[in-house]
Amino acid sequence: MVVIGTPLSPTATRILLLGSGELGKEITIAAQRLGVEVVAVDRYPNAPAHQVAHRAHVIDMTDGDALRRLVEQERPQIIVPEIEAIATGALLEIEVSGLAEVIPTARAAHLTMNREGIRRLASEELGLPTSRYAFASSLDEFKGKIDQDIGYPCVVKPVMSSSGKGQSRVDSPEQVAAAWGYASSGARVRNTRVIVESLVEFEYEITLLTVRAFNGDGRIETHFCDPIGHLQVHGDYVESWQPHPMSERALAKSKDIAERVTGALGGRGVFGVELFVKGDEVWFSEVSPRPHDTGMVTMITQAQNEFALHVRAILGLPVGTRMRRAGASAVIYGGISGEGVVFEGVDEALRIPETNLRLFGKPVSYERRRMGVALAAADNVDVARRRAKDCAAKVRPRAAKSPPQLK
Ligand SMILES: Nc1ncnc2c1ncn2[C@@H]1O[C@H](COP(=O)(O)OP(=O)(O)OP(=O)(O)O)[C@@H](O)[C@H]1O
Ligand SMILES: [Mg+2]
Repeated sequence: MVVIGTPLSPTATRILLLGSGELGKEITIAAQRLGVEVVAVDRYPNAPAHQVAHRAHVIDMTDGDALRRLVEQERPQIIVPEIEAIATGALLEIEVSGLAEVIPTARAAHLTMNREGIRRLASEELGLPTSRYAFASSLDEFKGKIDQDIGYPCVVKPVMSSSGKGQSRVDSPEQVAAAWGYASSGARVRNTRVIVESLVEFEYEITLLTVRAFNGDGRIETHFCDPIGHLQVHGDYVESWQPHPMSERALAKSKDIAERVTGALGGRGVFGVELFVKGDEVWFSEVSPRPHDTGMVTMITQAQNEFALHVRAILGLPVGTRMRRAGASAVIYGGISGEGVVFEGVDEALRIPETNLRLFGKPVSYERRRMGVALAAADNVDVARRRAKDCAAKVRPRAAKSPPQLK
């Protein structure tokens, strides 16, 4: 039997959310709806989830001592990582000492924050198909690995990075030094280590949202959402849609890969399994042990969106992955740098049929920062994509000094 307490009381069921971006904001709202107390943490004030949580903290989450102090102060039953850049060593200790449970597991957070951990698990332990890959910690080693093992074209990424930071494609030996320099500048930590991967000539790529949740008999069961197609520009997602049509064999292989990799990571919650597909062939790319940015489309397509699914799975509640309607999402970028921007054209955007918007409320905008997302539903994905793109394009961030007039 699952029991939920009363927030802000001694009986509270309390979640500590590590990372308070747009995904964390939706996780918080989903948890609040079930009467869960949410404490949101980020490294800067007034982050999106801070604005909707019961309490907010600003700390450096890569500082293990600071993290542990906060856990001892807030005493959450559950810790929900929303980002990768966390002192996962501290999470492992917290979990082992029984101080709090980490979603899905501290080991999953630890393995997936580093591309080397998850790639070696997927390929070398589980035998899942991936691109050819190698790791390097210096320019010489990097050059050597490309020449001996990987070849051209290849893709290079810092082992600790996300959203395409420091990532580039290398087509010829002349580009190697520049790619190394770019990877060094985009890495999350000082000593650059990179993964170099052969370029997979895929037809399309999907995110297979995979949910591990308790069924009625106290066993974990794996559920799959319909495949989400997406478009990436410079390693960052700009558009996603659901469902993405797939051959029966490719879908079966995708589910098998997703079940195996999420099974190896363990725990419960939503995972975003990223896969490359060509015909009936499927390659594992990477996995997020949490809701996925491309999965924001489920806010308009599914009866239980990925955030509701995550919270339900975390709490031990039943989950359902049924789609209600085809849909799409399109990212709204800042376009400009500045604090306290205003968004023009919201009314025109929402006049497009079956659309909805999320404006994340980020205090500072910059050109390539994701400030919002447009959502659209339709009878089919093509129409939904057009609607979502039109809706996003009508929202125009602008610098301002005072609140806009409402009329
Ligand atoms: N080996 C590869 N072959 C072909 N395309 C690739 C390869 N690796 C990455 N890409 C492309 O770059 C995108 C981003 O790569 P990846 O997901 O590894 O980086 P990321 O920084 O973790 O991105 P995000 O955080 O947005 O998921 C992929 O979705 C894919 O479009
Ligand atoms: Mg990715």
